[in-house]
Amino acid sequence: MNKRAVKLADNTISAEEIRALAGWLQEDHQLTKGPLTRQFEAEFAAYSGTKYSIMVNSGSSANLLMAYSLLEAGYLKNKKVIVPAVSWITTLSPFIQLGFDCFLCDSDADDLGVDLNHLEALLKKEQPALLILVHILGHPNKMEAIQRLCEQYGCRVIEDACEALGSEYAGQKTGALSLAGSFSFYYGHHISTIEGGAITTSDGKLYSVMLSIRSHGWSRDVPEADRIAWRKEHDIDEFREFYSFYYPGYNLRSSDLNAFLGRGQLQRLPDIAKTRERNFELYRKALPDFWSQRSERSFVSSFAYGTFVKNRLAVFHHLKANGIECRPLVCGSMGRQPFWIKRYGVMHLTVADRVHDFGLYLPNHANITPDDISHVAHCFKEVAEPL
Ligand SMILES: Cc1ncc(COP(=O)(O)O)c(C=O)c1O
Repeated sequence: MNKRAVKLADNTISAEEIRALAGWLQEDHQLTKGPLTRQFEAEFAAYSGTKYSIMVNSGSSANLLMAYSLLEAGYLKNKKVIVPAVSWITTLSPFIQLGFDCFLCDSDADDLGVDLNHLEALLKKEQPALLILVHILGHPNKMEAIQRLCEQYGCRVIEDACEALGSEYAGQKTGALSLAGSFSFYYGHHISTIEGGAITTSDGKLYSVMLSIRSHGWSRDVPEADRIAWRKEHDIDEFREFYSFYYPGYNLRSSDLNAFLGRGQLQRLPDIAKTRERNFELYRKALPDFWSQRSERSFVSSFAYGTFVKNRLAVFHHLKANGIECRPLVCGSMGRQPFWIKRYGVMHLTVADRVHDFGLYLPNHANITPDDISHVAHCFKEVAEPL
């Protein structure tokens, strides 16, 4: 039996990629706002099957940029948003910071995306402008039913696909299944630009607004036709244009150094995603007595292997003693997090509470071997009690 340590995440950037980066850095390149960021964006959009992509410095920045740009572009009929209770803090926090009313939605018991019945009840009662989905641990939400419901109630949909790079639903990539999708390239996600992220969209107006808000609110990165139209609308001359701000923006840019890494990583992504799916299936077969995520996917670029156990702390300590890392199943429920309780009081939701109290995830990454999975499953079964 293989006894080597099994980490939650591992580097996806190879020694060869670092050498190539070091060589490139020694040449005389513009290191930020240069051509590599635009090249990476074009390649990432082509991979995703969307018209555009925008590179930013993290998945969290991507969520912030989507939220604020939708507001500034006039795409939201009110400031009410539905956020999955099982999500990530920076899926939700931009909406809190921007003064939205946030409604937590319970999770689907199979895929851990949004629960359709709770979603419909919230849509009916609150009439929100926006739903942000999270494809938990790589498993796509029930997109067809969700889109149908949201159309019926006039609610726009966006995706936080930070855990689902490479997953597919009905043959289309996650992140390309709604108005806009966000991704993280943080070390430990599917691909790494050290820190980094991106947004995908096929909506031209939103694209221009996001490009502007990413960089201070100026227009110089915005496509020519929109840039000239904005200038004319505000009667701004060519010189004043340099420092004209159309939105009260941020600086959420990444750099060409990160884009250099991203271009190399993108080439390896299809293989990385296949290994992650293989690992998911190996875990599922090795742990038949334990709950496993089931989704309407055509492909799962699994982020980690989620399951439920009665004795989570004992499992955590036993795995740790055997050199194996594990974590709670993402955030558990936002309705049980300290910041939420302090602001709004505790919120109980059936499935999200189960995730909060009993959920955990086991490591999956591109360097994990079938042997590693047998080792993890063996140690896990020594103590874990299925829920
Ligand atoms: C669903 C989800 N959204 C957003 C993020 C944030 O990404 P980043 O760490 O690049 O800011 C994460 C990070 O793990 C995540 O899991």
